[in-house]
Amino acid sequence: MEHPGAPKMRTKDVSVYYGDKKAIDQVTIDIPAEYVTAFIGPSGCGKSTFLRTLNRMNDTIPSARVEGTIELDGDDVYASSMDVVQLRARVGMVFQKPNPFPKSIYDNVAYGPSIHGLAPTKADLDQIVEKSLQRAGLWNEVKDRLQESGTALSGGQQQRLCIARAIAVDPEVILMDEPCSALDPIATAKIEELIDELQGRYAIVIVTHSMQQAARVSQRTAFFHLGEMVEYGPTDAIFTTPQEERTKDYITGRYG
Ligand SMILES: Nc1ncnc2c1ncn2[C@@H]1O[C@H](COP(=O)(O)OP(=O)(O)O)[C@@H](O)[C@H]1O
Ligand SMILES: [Mg+2]
Repeated sequence: MEHPGAPKMRTKDVSVYYGDKKAIDQVTIDIPAEYVTAFIGPSGCGKSTFLRTLNRMNDTIPSARVEGTIELDGDDVYASSMDVVQLRARVGMVFQKPNPFPKSIYDNVAYGPSIHGLAPTKADLDQIVEKSLQRAGLWNEVKDRLQESGTALSGGQQQRLCIARAIAVDPEVILMDEPCSALDPIATAKIEELIDELQGRYAIVIVTHSMQQAARVSQRTAFFHLGEMVEYGPTDAIFTTPQEERTKDYITGRYG
């Protein structure tokens, strides 16, 4: 365990290539444990690519190559000794499109804790499922229908189920890649409320193309442009007193 106040994750000079094409250029950033960090920037600037380096999701893309260092509590995420399955439990991920397993609501949440051996008995597992669904703000809506399919829920409920699934394995970091982009405004507001409640318990990194959303949910914002991280700081400061010309242009809507 690192000393209090140490960043949860740190990247140093991280570059990502798809074949010969450089998609991320030498990004160095500390991800705090206690805050929500937003990644903003125009489409195609590399937000998702960089987010995926944090739990080695890019490993699943054959042409992708990562340079530089990424640490989680001081451990090298790309070390050959790193157990990637374990890493992805510690650094969970929620995607743009809700992707529940075609299984029951209960099994969606119970699967992770089962394979990671977190629940010795059925009663323990029941408790993890209930607690995770509660934390994800979904328990009251599903407690009487836990055996129904997760895919039968509404889009917003499915996304909260995916968040419950990530929470169930007791993660340290939750990565969210535009988690509301497939949702209506009411479902979006619920997810934003939920992110607010989860802040402090988990380090959260959210990619969003909505500056309003970044301003509402995050305490730290990083602005990306053409594969570079142009500027990073307290969210208020990024939106009110940006230091870089390119950040100014983006937040005033000159390109988007
Ligand atoms: N799987 C992939 N293979 C090749 N190029 C990719 C892949 N994913 C993303 N890219 C390219 O990398 C760049 C950054 O993309 P991405 O990380 O998806 O940006 P953002 O999330 O900011 O919209 C883009 O030029 C995109 O076309
Ligand atoms: Mg993206």
